Amino acid sequence: MNESSSSSSQAMGTIDVDQAFIQEPEHRPSLSTIEGQGIPVIDLSPVTSNNPSLSSINALVKEIGSACKEWGFIQVTNHGVPLSLRQNLLEASKSFFAQSLQDKKKVSRDETSASGYYDTEHTKNVRDWKEVFDFLAKEPTLFPLTSDEHDDRILHWTNKNPQYPPHFRDILKEYIKEMEKLSYKLLELIALSLGLESKRFEEFFGDQTSFVRLKYYPPCPYSHLALGVGPHKDSGALTILAQDDVGGLQVKRKTHDQEWINVEPIPHAYIINLADIIQVWSNGAYESVEHRVIVNSEKERFSIPYFLFPAHDTEVKPLK
Ligand code: OGA
Ligand code: NI
Repeated sequence: MNESSSSSSQAMGTIDVDQAFIQEPEHRPSLSTIEGQGIPVIDLSPVTSNNPSLSSINALVKEIGSACKEWGFIQVTNHGVPLSLRQNLLEASKSFFAQSLQDKKKVSRDETSASGYYDTEHTKNVRDWKEVFDFLAKEPTLFPLTSDEHDDRILHWTNKNPQYPPHFRDILKEYIKEMEKLSYKLLELIALSLGLESKRFEEFFGDQTSFVRLKYYPPCPYSHLALGVGPHKDSGALTILAQDDVGGLQVKRKTHDQEWINVEPIPHAYIINLADIIQVWSNGAYESVEHRVIVNSEKERFSIPYFLFPAHDTEVKPLK
């Protein structure tokens, strides 16, 4: 290598830092990691296998109840979602994000629908180091034009339709069916754990506004200053997330120390977190938990959350 080719456009040791991504010092990821117990891992086989016993379901409901109270974050195994489908969607997501920015912007989110591609999301006014592609569970998804309750104009959102990779839309639709099945099982377990009738939440989800979000976190040259997603709570009912093997999701532990705890990747498991609406329905018994995503200076990371939201006109108040 000659001298001119080794001196690239940026001098060694310096990087161009875009201020929009820079977190306040108190939000920057700490370099030390916390040792200790991670979030609970729960085996869902009592509700996914044939002929489960009543006692195994009761034990599961108890386990879910304490995990919801103590952590608000769970990893579940034996959840019934076919692994091949998850792998297909992950591969499709990789192919989609590997396209040029120009090609990805052909399916950009716009005023007519919140679905599609975008790369400029901010969490608490700091830009997230990520790109996303959103796909609605229901077509059309009905959404109010404004948050004014006297304004009854309703938008009919539809999905963007990427031409690449092939079968992208079919895979997404099949995946959403599986997420719906799993979300109903989880809602039943959560209802039972709160002493409610198992189908108590179902009525709110007929015209649900749920969506699946494909997320791509590129490697970040200043991973000590930026975040993939800044600290936040999810605003829906609950979130079901598939992450790859890179890691980066952190949860704020509810115990006195409020430390950030890594959610370790467990192959094929799903991460479930309670969000704001369950907190209200449960009258605060199950809190929505703060979490964030740290980025990696070398590795790219992919994750796929499914955000479960009720119908737009659901009155969200504590249940009896
Ligand atoms: C989110 C989120 C976590 C992740 O999208 O709300 O918290 O690991 N994602 O991508
Ligand atoms: Ni989140």
